Amino acid sequence: MGGMAETTRRGATTDPGSGPQGELPASVPDHLPFARAASVFAVVLLAGALFGYDQGVISGALLGIQKAFAVGAIALEIVTSWVTLGAMFGSIAGGFVADHFGRKRALLVAASLFIIGALVQSFAPNVPILVFGRLVAGFGVGVAAVAAPLYAAELAPAAQRGRYVSSYQLAITVGIFVAYFVNQALAGPDGWRKMLGVAAVPGALLALAVLIAVESPRWFVKVGRREDALRTLVALGAEHDAEARLAAIAKSLRAEVKTPSWAEVFALRWRTPLIIGLGLAVLQQLTGINAIIYYSNSIFAAAGFATPVEQAQATTWAIGAVNVLSTFIAIAFIDGLGRRPLLIAGLIGMALSLAVVGFAFWQSGTEGSLGSSAGLITLVALVVFIISFAFSAGPVTWTVINEIYPNEIRGRAVAVATAVNWGAAFLVSGFFLSVVKAIGQAYTFWMFAGFCVIGLVWVMVGVPETRGRSLEEIEASWRQPAGRS
Ligand code: BGC
Repeated sequence: MGGMAETTRRGATTDPGSGPQGELPASVPDHLPFARAASVFAVVLLAGALFGYDQGVISGALLGIQKAFAVGAIALEIVTSWVTLGAMFGSIAGGFVADHFGRKRALLVAASLFIIGALVQSFAPNVPILVFGRLVAGFGVGVAAVAAPLYAAELAPAAQRGRYVSSYQLAITVGIFVAYFVNQALAGPDGWRKMLGVAAVPGALLALAVLIAVESPRWFVKVGRREDALRTLVALGAEHDAEARLAAIAKSLRAEVKTPSWAEVFALRWRTPLIIGLGLAVLQQLTGINAIIYYSNSIFAAAGFATPVEQAQATTWAIGAVNVLSTFIAIAFIDGLGRRPLLIAGLIGMALSLAVVGFAFWQSGTEGSLGSSAGLITLVALVVFIISFAFSAGPVTWTVINEIYPNEIRGRAVAVATAVNWGAAFLVSGFFLSVVKAIGQAYTFWMFAGFCVIGLVWVMVGVPETRGRSLEEIEASWRQPAGRS
């Protein structure tokens, strides 16, 4: 694995196939005109907010749903988790739509599905229709989860790419926070219908933002629409060297105009970026983040927060708000310090804080009844966990997944990594309660801490730094003879 990082560092300066990489400019200008940059950000932020709202809203809606339809635990688990299933399939389809029809159309499809899904859920007369609405909305989330970061990575200047894609993560955290907040505000008998229906608002705003935004010039080149690519590059501020930038894109596409086959996506020569992308996607979920996002109310209950109001407040502020604020650390440092230092520091913070949470539960002896000091320790440790996740595994995962794949397989490869991320989220959140029941809170948190330690070792030896390198340079590094072995 050490060889991978080595290969990549060498690849940063040399393209063995066709001479020094420096001859062609990066595909996107170093500074986008303000209105263009703002429009790209609007698309990315709204897509992330939609994803996050969906993650956060269910914790508040479940109680009302249970009362409205008098359903049991299994039906509630299905209502909770089928959105993740929909997202898993949506992310596979998202790659296909983004490659065939363009990044913008994929995002429009996502927004429409999200609006339809939100309305179906809100007016659902029974559980099957509610679940259908969850599935449709989840599908939309999955499509957006692939298309938005892909769009951001392709439109961002190389030096700011981490910041663009981290903004997506920031928006996810804002969406979760807003959902927690809305949950508190709308708590009441039929509040769940409004909580789920409100999700149509970011959907509609996303559709509007996409209609105004430009299409990715890389996608235009990929499907052979040269004139459209040139026009877009000029709109992005490349008045003087649009031709040269187009040549840089075309070179990295190597005249490939068709969608790659699945065999190409899994080809041996792309093994290294594939392993890195899938590894990060799984690792992000094995930290236990979504067990905490979905079940923080019950964790806080076990940690001594007596009333539902206290638990909801702890969730909104200690998890929701801290998650948003800490993501700014990543936005500030991801392009300067790099991806690896953030990831390494975050994994250490997560491993330690999870170990402390486990210890607090272990020391209390009886699961589910922590004393007040252990309750406080748990609260502080969970805050440290969220901070550590929010500046590392959250944004770095999505940034790296969207920059390490070669142009010709990027759409599908990103889709696979995203689907794997959702699959892992489905498993972790779906089985958290059963695992706690089987081995107890303490060992469950220690298990997540163990995954962080394994992830830490793997990141240190196997994940290269991608800061400040153009997508073309990163791609060239996988083409090194050593990288193929
Ligand atoms: C993850 C989500 C998670 C969120 C928390 C994202 O990067 O993909 O699964 O809920 O971060 O902020």
